Amino acid sequence: MEDIRNIIRQSKTLVGPFPEFNINEASEYPHEQFLEWFQMAIDNGVHEPHSMTLSTTDHNGFPDARVLIIKDVDQYGWYFASSSQSEKGKHIEDNPNIALTFYWSSIGKQVRIRGIAIEMDKERSAKDFLNRGTVARAIALLGKQSSILKEQREFEEALIKQIDSLQHNPTLVSPSWTLYRVVAKEVEFWQADEDRKHIRLRYKLEGDKWLKNLLWA
Ligand SMILES: Cc1cc2nc3c(=O)[nH]c(=O)nc-3n(C[C@H](O)[C@H](O)[C@H](O)COP(=O)(O)O)c2cc1C
Repeated sequence: MEDIRNIIRQSKTLVGPFPEFNINEASEYPHEQFLEWFQMAIDNGVHEPHSMTLSTTDHNGFPDARVLIIKDVDQYGWYFASSSQSEKGKHIEDNPNIALTFYWSSIGKQVRIRGIAIEMDKERSAKDFLNRGTVARAIALLGKQSSILKEQREFEEALIKQIDSLQHNPTLVSPSWTLYRVVAKEVEFWQADEDRKHIRLRYKLEGDKWLKNLLWA
């Protein structure tokens, strides 16, 4: 135990080398800048760059966070999908103000997005659902995400039944499966520097214009 605690204490972060971030060439729009960085993440072999942390708050304002997959990004926002009946779904219903965080360690990049999560219509949510693999669809159709499970076996048995019913009816769609769009108000691009002179560029929506500012590291 002491060994692993020493390793934690001595672990180095942000060792580099990292790509340069030329802020003069940063896009006018954060979604374009994000897509550029995402391309760099792919080109540099970042493992699962589409994993991100979604932060929400419950009805008492108590925060929660979990990892999800980003599904798409366009000029309207960032998209993810989940069950509207899950904990996060209930949080969003109570308070649609959320945050998304990406961290791509091998290229020293963090992106922080603050915005509002909006439910997309049933048609778009169903399309996202039908694009998922069989097991993922079967799990969503169980419709119990985040509720208490007595034992793992119960889940496995229910899953076998659900996969079977999907095989008979492959167009089944979970009524609670929801595609959410995050409409951003602030997006920060953080680039690590080996000498700790990190660069932070924040886009903030003022009216219908994106204002860009550097922030102190
Ligand atoms: C890499 C990764 C990707 C995930 N992607 C999703 C996803 O796209 N949608 C989803 O509902 N849960 C996803 N999960 C599971 C969530 O982290 C979480 O456990 C689940 O959604 C329940 O969260 P909640 O209780 O806060 O609602 C993913 C987990 C990991 C580790």
